[in-house]
Amino acid sequence: MKISIFGLGYVGLTFGVCLASRGFEVIGVDVDIDKVNIINRGEVPFYEPGLGELLQGTLDKGLFYATTDVHDAVLDSDIIFICVGTPSLPDGSADLRYVESVVKSVGRILGEKKGWHLIVVRSTVPPGTTGGLVKRLLEKESRKRAGEGFGLCMNPEFTKEGSAVEDTFSPDRIVIGEFDERSGAFLENLYREFHGTNTPPIIRTSLSNAELIKYASNAFLAMKVSFINEIANIAQRVPDADVETIARAIGLDKRIGPLFLRAGLGFGGSCFPKDLRALIRFSEGMQYKPRILKAVIEVNESQPYKAVELARSLIGQLRGKRVAVLGLAFKPNTDDVREAVSLKIVKALLNDGAHVVVYDPKAMPNTRKVLGDVVEYAGNVEECLKGADCAIVVTEWDEFKKLSPEDFLRLMHTPAVVDGRRIYDPKEFRGKLPFAAIGLGPAE
Ligand code: UGA
Repeated sequence: MKISIFGLGYVGLTFGVCLASRGFEVIGVDVDIDKVNIINRGEVPFYEPGLGELLQGTLDKGLFYATTDVHDAVLDSDIIFICVGTPSLPDGSADLRYVESVVKSVGRILGEKKGWHLIVVRSTVPPGTTGGLVKRLLEKESRKRAGEGFGLCMNPEFTKEGSAVEDTFSPDRIVIGEFDERSGAFLENLYREFHGTNTPPIIRTSLSNAELIKYASNAFLAMKVSFINEIANIAQRVPDADVETIARAIGLDKRIGPLFLRAGLGFGGSCFPKDLRALIRFSEGMQYKPRILKAVIEVNESQPYKAVELARSLIGQLRGKRVAVLGLAFKPNTDDVREAVSLKIVKALLNDGAHVVVYDPKAMPNTRKVLGDVVEYAGNVEECLKGADCAIVVTEWDEFKKLSPEDFLRLMHTPAVVDGRRIYDPKEFRGKLPFAAIGLGPAE
């Protein structure tokens, strides 16, 4: 079975390389020639743990290559996965222009092809898109009928940046939305071959259900994060309360579960904020006002500013103070700063007149592209802390977890620490230096 993957972002490239690493022949297609060249040299154009080694292995074995040539990729494969981005339009709805453009060009070439071919939408798209827009465009361009000349599926992905390889090899479940039985069976067969005896539960369902499952999944996880952040904001006002213990205790209830209950400065990234907005716009378009989803966003929008409030509570006015920001990526193990809370925090600190110095193990180049020279970029964590009046932990990189109160005392001008991601033990820090943390109530 030959596979082509359209869109070589972290979703498409990781998926394609993982498939190839288990013996499938995979062609990766992207419009960006620079990206294609980088990948064919064995380099990953973004930071994703484990992907580089895997890519090199599949290139060496001739099981994977990248190209801009849509024509050859369609003619030379049996199944196409569409993995292009669906960013937000100004009104919050999903921008389907990249999906549309891939579908049109694939459709035209499908018209030339003899035999059946399966098209799989893996991009996150609003309910009705695959069975509506995608099917219509494919039929129009190819002059073939879905379910006869070609097959059609919607197969959402649930991989997280930073652990995308692991998530691809060991997903909790596989969701296959199918236009017809043959398409669903073909895709199920591919996954059974890929996962072997470790195949997770496979849910075969309608195209619209598959589309909605993806949105519901991300919305629920985002809701867990906003929920625990709300509890954190309450706990912070209660003497001797600590959201960490509360999260651990409620997470032991099987009905709640322990994951995605880490209180912090809010969620960012290219998925949760965009998918929540798209689901809200979609619901409103269907004349339903989704109150919970709106509240999830509302809590998240104000959460980053808690870091600035805590900094003020420790050192007073920030004007003229040197504030060290530890972590810029929207989460650890990635260099991605899309919708990262760090950007909001930096802007708020600058508005308050602070001098901001930043450090991140991987996301400095991407941050520089967004923020330019309004902040000072430190070469390492020590340089970032040196002479600072306050340090704020914004991303929970392992490197920051190793810092002790003595490190802050030694390096900073007036040591004060805001733990925005709950990586330090308050018992170790309190009493040694001014210390505040999200969801940590005042000591009695
Ligand atoms: C998310 C989903 O977790 C994936 O299942 C999904 O496939 C992906 O979106 C997507 O739609 O493509 P991702 O955005 O890569 O993955 O990262 P997450 O690990 O979900 O983290 C999202 C944000 O929530 C981060 O800013 C993280 O710091 C924050 N978060 C997460 C918390 O603040 N607390 C937590 O307990 C968990």
